[in-house]
Amino acid sequence: MSKTDNNRDQALLAAKAVSALDEAEALVELARLAAEIADHDVLYHQKDAPEISDATYDALRTRNEAIETRFPSLVREDSPSLKVGAAPASAFEKIVHRVSMLSLGNVFDEEGVRDFLERIRRFLGLDQTDELAFTAEPKIDGLSITLRYEGGKLVQAATRGDGYEGENVTANVRTISDIPKEIETCGVPDPLEVRGEIYMSRSAFQTLNEEQLRRGDRPFANPRNAAAGSLRQLDSSITASRPLRFFAYGWGEVGALPAETQGEAYEKLRAWGFPLNLLIKLTRSAEEMLATYRDIESDRSGLDYDIDGVVYKLDRLDLQERLGFVSRSPRWAVAHKFPAEKATTVLRDIEIQVGRTGSLTPVAKLEPVTVGGVVVQNATLHNEDEIERKDVRIGDTVIIQRAGDVIPQILEPVTEKRPKGAKRFVFPDTCPACGSHAVREVDERTGKRNVVRRCTGGLICPAQRVERLKHFVSRNSFDIEGLGEKSIQELYDDGIIQSPQQIFTLAEEDAKREEKLAEREGWGKLSAQKLFASIEDRRGVKLDRFIFALGIRHMGGITGRLLARTYGTAENFLKAMRAASGARESEAFAELENIDGIGPTAAAALADFFGEPRNVDVVEALLQKVTPQELEAVDQTSPVSGKTVVFTGTLEKMTRSEAKARAERLGAKVSGSVSKNTDYVVAGPGAGSKLKNAKELGVAVLSEDEWLELIA
Ligand code: IVH
Repeated sequence: MSKTDNNRDQALLAAKAVSALDEAEALVELARLAAEIADHDVLYHQKDAPEISDATYDALRTRNEAIETRFPSLVREDSPSLKVGAAPASAFEKIVHRVSMLSLGNVFDEEGVRDFLERIRRFLGLDQTDELAFTAEPKIDGLSITLRYEGGKLVQAATRGDGYEGENVTANVRTISDIPKEIETCGVPDPLEVRGEIYMSRSAFQTLNEEQLRRGDRPFANPRNAAAGSLRQLDSSITASRPLRFFAYGWGEVGALPAETQGEAYEKLRAWGFPLNLLIKLTRSAEEMLATYRDIESDRSGLDYDIDGVVYKLDRLDLQERLGFVSRSPRWAVAHKFPAEKATTVLRDIEIQVGRTGSLTPVAKLEPVTVGGVVVQNATLHNEDEIERKDVRIGDTVIIQRAGDVIPQILEPVTEKRPKGAKRFVFPDTCPACGSHAVREVDERTGKRNVVRRCTGGLICPAQRVERLKHFVSRNSFDIEGLGEKSIQELYDDGIIQSPQQIFTLAEEDAKREEKLAEREGWGKLSAQKLFASIEDRRGVKLDRFIFALGIRHMGGITGRLLARTYGTAENFLKAMRAASGARESEAFAELENIDGIGPTAAAALADFFGEPRNVDVVEALLQKVTPQELEAVDQTSPVSGKTVVFTGTLEKMTRSEAKARAERLGAKVSGSVSKNTDYVVAGPGAGSKLKNAKELGVAVLSEDEWLELIA
């Protein structure tokens, strides 16, 4: 807040003493304070125009809390005490992009770049001697955003989403100082949609993670995740506190762009106030493109932001127009990706980590080394066969690799540097956490031993239980803020949270307990309150997250969504899973296995999970405490909403996954097999038994074009 003490501040504070308020007055006063504080949050965080001093603002919040302490039953759902400096927040509104936000095709080597050039020449009917210029620029590893300006004002900012529809993050984007909120109107197209990448610098990322750890919050895996997490905050004041940056690299809908080339357009964008990357170059041959690639690659480790390749864009906009797009990428641009980064260090030790499904993973403890701007101390060694195959020994010098946000891995030992005492690692056959046997299952169908050794302790294994809890509260599951991995471990060790349902009685139990959460080391009144509020908030978790949170083997976020869409409610899901776990011949199991994208492995894992009574007990106990919400209805007005579709044969106008995603967006269910419940079979060339089944069952069969017409 700015230091602008004025009469208004005095007036705001001239209120009746908290101790003198009766309940009815307190109710009115809390409502006034909630509204007042929310207004000042907006003025401060979104409009850059605070009207009261920091001290007055703090006094308003203190008064709010004092009243709440006197009248705990009156705490409002939108109380400012439950959100630190919170701006009014609701889930992000969806925005359909006027011009789709596409992605880029990738190439990985010189040959790929030459093929890309060749394709362009062929398409445009040019020969080798015709010169083509390309911009070459770093591919920033952040998240793309589109910024819409009307009458010179930033009116809307949206994330890419699935390319067709993104999320409205305008309030948060307004807090990013790199992004102009207002631009000149003279000579600037109207409307103007500027596209680019929001990112976080490596140094800011390090500082943020140190703060996260200090507060007991989860650290982010990398700057991109930190940037995405910071942008997708419902509370703009959190975004405002995170140092997000922006580079422009393109545009969407534009009145009339005063440029004939990509390079000229960049100059215009720069002149209108948008930050452009300083390494952008114009290149005129494959050799120049590759030389720029090598230059940028060698600059990479010295940059304060992550990049993962170089993007080449055909300079002439008229040629871009002619080339157009293929599936979801432009023909006129490509990303030349960097190979994963490597480094050499010493393997100090190997530790065994027990995962939530009991898998024993060998983790390499390394002499710390910087790879791609990140200090690496741990790397995965995958499994015991890998250790043997690579013949990695403790004490070895090893080559490690880090690619994107995957866990760094050990590629190979440098055997010439092997010290005399280097020790072979003996993989344990008992679980280091609970002492149960750890076994390698044999695949019934192939007769082969699984590469993963698993603890057989199940729910008696503390490591598995803790890992399940960590998964349960994690970002893609229940997303309980303020309950990081460290807190879960501590609360588990002290017997406070040992099963997921206990999270939802935490506040209630805390009130009864002698040592309150707020008094524990690293906690405090505010963080405890925040945690309770976030737990309350998550009682209405979406069904897909609820399913994912159960931590069933082979279940990812997408599988969770498929199941949630198929079964609709938690009750239906549980009922179907119990039925499916009974017998593999059951109709319920067949239905499960037939959901497109589920398949036999995931179906068997679900049936196994629900075949274990203790798991069903946990799910039932949880359902006493939480009410999972059905996913929003997808477009119900579409002609295929609620219909079951099967795609078979080769699709020519879109990939199978694109077809599936589009159908699902329109409310259709996509299935992998044809039954009497199928409404449409979309058959391309090469369709076989599914087409035959459809004909036998009298199911409507459409060509790809007919399908596209139906959903157009
Ligand atoms: S151009 C139609 N230029 O990469 C082409 N993209 O894989 C639009 N990205 O979604 C993209 N740096 O988020 C372009 N200099 C750059 C980029 C860049 C990063 C991202 C962007 C896009 C993704 C495509």
